[in-house]
Parts: sequence; C-alpha cells; structure tokens
Amino acid sequence: MTVDINWDELGFNYMDLPYRYIARWKDGAWDEGQLSTNNQLTISEGSPILHYGQGAFEGMKAYRTKDGQIQLFRPDRNAKRMQDSAEKLLMPSLSVERFVDAAKQVVAANNEYVPPYGTGATLYLRPTLIGVGDNIGVSPATEYIFTIFAMPVGPYFKGGMVPTRFIVADQFDRAAHFGTGQSKVGGNYAASLQAGKFAHENGYGDAIYLDPIEHRYIEEVGSANFFAITKDGKQLQTPQSPSILPSITKYSILDLARERLGMETIETQIDIHDLDQFAEAGACGTAAVITPIQSITYHSQEHLFGDGTTGPLTQRLYDELTGIQFGDVEAPEGWIVPV
Ligand code: PLP
Ligand code: COI
Repeated sequence: MTVDINWDELGFNYMDLPYRYIARWKDGAWDEGQLSTNNQLTISEGSPILHYGQGAFEGMKAYRTKDGQIQLFRPDRNAKRMQDSAEKLLMPSLSVERFVDAAKQVVAANNEYVPPYGTGATLYLRPTLIGVGDNIGVSPATEYIFTIFAMPVGPYFKGGMVPTRFIVADQFDRAAHFGTGQSKVGGNYAASLQAGKFAHENGYGDAIYLDPIEHRYIEEVGSANFFAITKDGKQLQTPQSPSILPSITKYSILDLARERLGMETIETQIDIHDLDQFAEAGACGTAAVITPIQSITYHSQEHLFGDGTTGPLTQRLYDELTGIQFGDVEAPEGWIVPV
C-alpha cells in the first residue's frame, strides 16, 4: 500500500497514523502494552497530568535508508532521558529495552508512513508518559499511561537547513536552575509559549533564553540546544547549565566535532556579550536537526555570525550527522538501531 503524501511539502504537524503503542501502569506494574488504532485517550478528570502537569515526553526519529531499510538514531538515549524525566516527577518508567521495542513496533506498523530516502523527511516519534487516575491533591498519580505515536515530518524551522534569525527573550525565563529545565516535561514548554510567540511575531525562528540568575549566559533555544564555533574554527562551544535539556543531538555533535572533525569541544558558560569570538552558531535537536543561526538579536542589536550564510563547519557537522542518521555514513558503535 502506498500513502498519498507529498513528502517534500511536510512541515512539523500532527497526523493521525494507523497505529500507536499504549501501555498502562496500575497497582505497581506495567501491563503488556499493545498497538492501538485509536488516537483518543479517555482519562479521569482528576488526572494529575491535567492539573499539575505530571507528564514527560520524548522526541525521536526513524530514518529510511537508501536501500529502503528503516533505522532509529540512539533510541536508548531517549529511553534513558525519559527515565530521568520520570524520576524527577515521581513517575514509573519503562525499561530501555521495552521503550526501544515499543518504538520499533510503532515504526514497523506504520511502515508506509516512513518517508522515502532522499526527501529529507523522517518519521517523528513522540513517546509520552502521563499521570492519570482519580486524584485531586498535589501528589503523584496512582495510574500512568505510556504511549508512542508517530507522524511523518519535514523541517521544524522554516526551510530546514537555512540560516535562521533568533532573538534573546530575556524578559522570560524558561526554567530555574534547580527546577525541571533538565527534564523533558510539559511545564517547560508551557512556560516557553510566551517567549515563542514574542519571537515569531517579531519575525524570528524562535527565542533564545539566558540563564535565570544573571540573564547573561546563553541557555538554549525554546526547542533546541545551542552551539557556536570560534573564529579560528578550532573549538566548538556549547552552554553548560543545570537548566537546559541534555540534547542527544548536541552530545552527538560534540562527539562528531571531536572525533571526526578534529575540533576541541567544550561545555562552558557562553556570555551573550561575547558573541564576537564566534564565526558560526547553530541550534540543534531532533526536530531542529542542525539549523544554522544567521544572527542573534539582543536588546535591539543584531549580531550576525560570519556573513550570515551557513558556515563550512556547521555544514560538515550537518552532513556527518544526517549522513549517519540516513545510513550513508558509518555510525559510531551503538548509534544506529535497525527496525
Ligand atoms: N532543548 C529543548 C528545549 C528541546 O525541546 C529539544 C528537543 O528535544 C532539544 C533541546 C534537543 O534535544 P534532542 O537533541 O535530544 O532532541
Ligand atoms: C524535539 O526535537 O524532539 C522536540 O521535542 C522539540 C520540539 C518539537 C518541542
């Protein structure tokens, strides 16, 4: 069966695919879990996810290779990060093995929705874990639902791998240092909506947050991590902060920059007043992939990176990363999991 989708026109939008995975936790244990054709969840009005935001999610992709196979990129990392998010919100989680197996089941069942090789599109998976059941006090749920649903997606930022303008939104904080910024939980994204609206309404791709203490050091983008490359091309820097999401793409880029491009990599504080030392910068994440940062506007001043076009090292990192993800470039051990 072939599906009628214009793969080249895909953006980042929900689609109701034939199958999703669903498992339920009750009385201290997960059930067997199964694929379901129903995209609706029916939950109690007392569910802690609804009132107190007790829930976590993940974002990962399945890639079609040149020979038609399908593969996942470091799904064990998403499984582990969901365990960490769950622990933060006092939720049970699935083992890494069960999480990865569920992801494979969803991809295989929706096989014809995995975009063809060469379109640049991918199948985005959204694992979600929520606290449900009858509850009204501020305490952990007594029941949980874990699902993975999927949809074919194209670029998250308009145009994909094109230089994009970002704006510092230091009238807003994304997360506090000892709060939930490291966890992939809904509240961080609810808290980012105003800053995102501000950025989009002013013609920018997204907002960049500064640290919540001094409003001086770059944290991350609302939907991606940040990296920058020094003018001598020798060093790739990325923010060190307790309140940013530990991006799997970012850690992959750090490895590739070091191991394959021979660069020095460093996680450090990046002062918003110190952008002059960099020739290139980028936003990185599963949805964002690597989006070159053309400029950052801070207090009405626009700082351009290089001449505003995609820098050569950003391009090489993009080619290496996406080459691995789509199976054209040899992957470091354990990064690729066939479906
Ligand atoms: N930072 C935020 C706030 C995100 O939502 C994401 C997306 O998952 C990332 C960073 C990038 O993380 P990853 O590379 O694991 O997708
Ligand atoms: C991802 O890259 O997977 C994300 O979750 C980013 C965004 C869509 C929230």
